[in-house]
Amino acid sequence: MERIGDYLYTFDGEGKEKHVPVIKAPEKVKAGEPFEVTVIVGDEVPHPNTVEHHIKWIALFAKPEKGNIVHIATFDMGPTYAAPRATFPVMLKQNSTLFAVEYCNIHGLWESSIKITVE
Ligand SMILES: [Fe+2]
Repeated sequence: MERIGDYLYTFDGEGKEKHVPVIKAPEKVKAGEPFEVTVIVGDEVPHPNTVEHHIKWIALFAKPEKGNIVHIATFDMGPTYAAPRATFPVMLKQNSTLFAVEYCNIHGLWESSIKITVE
């Protein structure tokens, strides 16, 4: 059986890849208090933003230490008018890993993650 994870790309090589979502968030937050997480696609190496080639959506998920992965929000973007970035309002109750996933209409699904400490 094929799995969607087989087509969920990231980049572990040297340098930068324009599709990998860059997650900007505090390292530590307070339990239950809102904070902002910004996800940028093409932060250092710009990604095209044309009707023919663009970032269609960016989604953010959280995987708490205890419990299953949860969907926080998805930004669905129109090409040329929407910049490929999104700021998510987030509240966490326990230490978590945040996963950002973005979809390029030509190059597919790309992911990245960071850990957040909850005090
Ligand atoms: Fe692309």
